[in-house]
Amino acid sequence: MCGIFGCILKDGDAAPVIHAALKRLEYRGYDSVGEATIHNGKLFIKKDQGKIDEVHKTRNLDDLPGNIGIGHTRWATHGAPLEVNAHPHIDCSGQIAVIHNGIIENFTQLKQELENRGHIFKSKTDTEVIAHLIERAFETNPSLSLADAVLETVRRLEGSYAIAVISTREPDKIVCARHESPLVVGVNDKAVYFASDIPAFLPLTNKAVMVEDGELVVLSQEGYGIKKIADSKVVTREPKVIAWAPEMAVKQGYPHFMIKEIHEQPDTLRNTLRLQEHYLDLMATFLDRAREVFLVACGTSYHACLASSYMFSKLAFLSTYPVIASEFVEQHGKSVNIDSTILTVSQSGETADTLAAVNAARQRAATVLGLTNVIGSTLTRVSRVYVGQQSGPEIGVAATKTFTSQLSVLAQLALRLAKKRGKVSQDEMDFIEEKLKQLPDTVDTIIRTQEEKVKQIAKKYKDAKVFFFLGRGISTATAYEGRLKLMEIAYVPAIAFPAGESKHGPISLVEPGFPVVFICAKDDTHKTLIGNIMEMKARGASIIAVIEDGDEEIKELADDYVEVPKDIPEILSPVPYVTPLQLLAYYMAIERGYNPDMPRNLAKSVTVK
Ligand code: AGP
Repeated sequence: MCGIFGCILKDGDAAPVIHAALKRLEYRGYDSVGEATIHNGKLFIKKDQGKIDEVHKTRNLDDLPGNIGIGHTRWATHGAPLEVNAHPHIDCSGQIAVIHNGIIENFTQLKQELENRGHIFKSKTDTEVIAHLIERAFETNPSLSLADAVLETVRRLEGSYAIAVISTREPDKIVCARHESPLVVGVNDKAVYFASDIPAFLPLTNKAVMVEDGELVVLSQEGYGIKKIADSKVVTREPKVIAWAPEMAVKQGYPHFMIKEIHEQPDTLRNTLRLQEHYLDLMATFLDRAREVFLVACGTSYHACLASSYMFSKLAFLSTYPVIASEFVEQHGKSVNIDSTILTVSQSGETADTLAAVNAARQRAATVLGLTNVIGSTLTRVSRVYVGQQSGPEIGVAATKTFTSQLSVLAQLALRLAKKRGKVSQDEMDFIEEKLKQLPDTVDTIIRTQEEKVKQIAKKYKDAKVFFFLGRGISTATAYEGRLKLMEIAYVPAIAFPAGESKHGPISLVEPGFPVVFICAKDDTHKTLIGNIMEMKARGASIIAVIEDGDEEIKELADDYVEVPKDIPEILSPVPYVTPLQLLAYYMAIERGYNPDMPRNLAKSVTVK
């Protein structure tokens, strides 16, 4: 996720306006920043790694000349956060500048093709191919308009993008295009703007035109023109007045970042399907060779590790050891060795306990693999191979979208390993891969259809003194995560166990009305889980069940239930089954009068070096 903005002013310099707008977009990415303007037919660019204020201090982002320009604030997906990888990117001739939010999936092939034709690439980004493709379009047909050269280019792109292009060939225009990444145009009588989000231009205008997927927009002093990328058909769309206060706008109309991020999950899950396969394959190779594999993380990321231990076992027949990072040195510090592989999961890539475990493992020559959301974090620097989970910045302290992204990436990794080891049939593999592609829509359905129900459940149980979360098999990880979310932001003491363990002690807590949340995925554990529900029911517990759509057997037993769509493969089930639990924690916090974005005693580790 990155922030993009640009403008054409009737009067004055664009650079300070772009700088101020990028500051308002900093929540979308903050590892590097850049601007490009055009003045007297010349292109001017400033960019560097670092937060906007840091870069401005050393580079002065405001003194680029010209009334037309584009700017970008980056959250790295391809290429470390270095100056050379910061946007804008230019072509070989230095006449075309491009900014981009999204992921170009076929960039390796395109880059190869362009390199074969003599194009020289400077960065490691997927974005740079766009600038060279536009250049190539002009090489083939010099009389093309900038809009048509961009049109030809985007027709070749696979993946997601919101791009903006300026060029000295047509110095009075900005050409933008969108596919699966947000893009919005703002207008007033002094200027025309575009941005990835309305808050970028909200202090300047409240008149916005939503650009839809598959559309290209040409901005000029006269305003904006939209056409369809597929057939160049002209689209007419009037601006709408946006009635948001600036504070609401940053949260896109949501009252809190946490609920915004829960709702973002269909999009973030879509992005996890655009991983760089090469790195997943490399990781799978390391896992395949390893004598022993530890899955090391803290908190929510540990729950992703726990879930993945079931994935690796069930799909790839690989035994792994999930370990809470702060215990790793005590538990395994002496035995870990050159034959050990440590798969480390950390959203921030900076969690001290996780890095301490990694250091201990590296000192004993173990292989470290990393999964993180922050490219450029310490974890990416110390890992032999790392994969970026591509969830974009998570501002809410409670991890939500980053958890489901981790699960999706780990499931893909387990699938690759299974393929390598020849452990699953082609049919099973195809089924899981198909369901993985549908996960974004599955989560979207859950949010749309179950959120209101969860709100009511939160109202009903808001005064509960303690909660139980129980699941079996892979749903144990889901139960642990549901419990952590509830404790962390609603301050309700909660206990989670594999359901089979509950009768070995914890059940003695149960008395009439005691809320017990059961994660009832329809897998091999379903039958036994019903037995566990009966045990709790017999002691007067109130059963709240997360069930598969139409699971009548459990509906009969439950006091309250929420439903997730049918036919979810076992290894993917934590993603849809955790979604109602995230909502439950959020609405419990609201009911109890707490701010879910600011849990006491906790802060997020988001350092980008
Ligand atoms: C979860 O909601 C927490 N904020 C916390 O448990 C978090 O997952 C943990 O601190 C690990 O962070 P990391 O993924 O950045 O390493």
